Amino acid sequence: MKILSVVGARPNFMKIAPFIRAIEKHNAGGGEPVQHLLVHTGQHYDHQMSQTFFDALNIPPADIHLGVGSGTHAEQVGNTMMAFEKVVAEEKPDWVVVVGDVNATLACSVTAKKQHVKCCHIEAGLRSGDERMPEEINRLVTDRLSDLLLTPDTLSIENLKKEGVEDHKIGFVGNIMIDTLEAQREKAAALSIPEVLKANQLLKDAVLPEVEEENYAVMTLHRPSNVDHREIFTALVNFLTDEVSADMPLLWPIHPRARKQLELFGLWEKVISTPKLVLMQPIGYHDMLRLNMTAKLFLTDSGGLQEECTVLGTPCLTMRWNTERPVTLKEHGGASVLVGNNVGRIREEYRTALAEKRNAVRPELWDGRTAERCLEAIIKAS
Ligand code: UD1
Repeated sequence: MKILSVVGARPNFMKIAPFIRAIEKHNAGGGEPVQHLLVHTGQHYDHQMSQTFFDALNIPPADIHLGVGSGTHAEQVGNTMMAFEKVVAEEKPDWVVVVGDVNATLACSVTAKKQHVKCCHIEAGLRSGDERMPEEINRLVTDRLSDLLLTPDTLSIENLKKEGVEDHKIGFVGNIMIDTLEAQREKAAALSIPEVLKANQLLKDAVLPEVEEENYAVMTLHRPSNVDHREIFTALVNFLTDEVSADMPLLWPIHPRARKQLELFGLWEKVISTPKLVLMQPIGYHDMLRLNMTAKLFLTDSGGLQEECTVLGTPCLTMRWNTERPVTLKEHGGASVLVGNNVGRIREEYRTALAEKRNAVRPELWDGRTAERCLEAIIKAS
């Protein structure tokens, strides 16, 4: 059997690493070998957004690079489809495996199906119900077309059934990203926070604040809905700099999109001159995991971090109005609460979260063995 799997952007790398490991393990154990080729579309190309993760997670170099780069959604998806079509025609895989919800996920699932190649979607069935999110469009299209839909939780199974997906196409496997978290936990725990900060600080001359365990906050922001609108982003930045970083050190690894927008909206000077706000370049996997392990609080609009906070037990304010990952919310036993981007609401939940203790929870099958179940399901469906 021949599998082509696809990655394009940062959140894909921690999902593909355990899948590749599962294939290696399967091949080492005898039985019918699985031939695997990794395709990188090149949506994320900065060293810190891509290669760092290949190195840290021991992902073998991609066999095929599409070199798509940045662009509008249509450009990224269109360019990926044109390049991937040639790869599929040449390699003739039995399966194309896509993960997550980025533009590569959509582009490569459509391309595979148009060439009558079976498609498996790992992380199927997540729904935010918000079609203004590019990721929601990617999820809807990919799941509509996929032959095998492997879900991280049971709520996702319900979503797929409601959309009419037949039972035999759905497999409940758990969360593959947690395989990576469990495999890397020990290595991350051995890192020291001052060293992480020193290695990643953006302004090399800035004096780093004293950062005590359990008494600092970490934040990330990158969604267009938060960072692309001047009024919204300005209000968020003011709250974070004037209030959060007045209470405790605030560590902020900055996504390229957020950085561009800070400069565009004239917020850069304010941000760099705020004491106790530590600006960092996009940080590596272990560094982020280490910071998350003993943070007092996380503020983020990332879906993946919401999940990691749940398993680590870090109180998480999710700066979105909806989530495709309800299993991470407090009402489902998780660590996260939706606060949107209204500062009044964020402030209220921020106060509540400060009084909370860490509470690690493990949704069903988030056990570090999801990748093996994914491969088993693909072999069974072949
Ligand atoms: C993409 C994913 C999103 C995911 C996020 C994680 C889609 C639709 N979105 O959004 O789901 O949560 O990745 O990061 O696929 N840029 C660089 N260097 C890079 C990559 C991007 O400077 O290596 C710049 C681009 O020029 C662009 C901006 O960052 O201006 C955004 O990049 P893009 O790939 O369009 O989407 P993300 O916002 O990263």
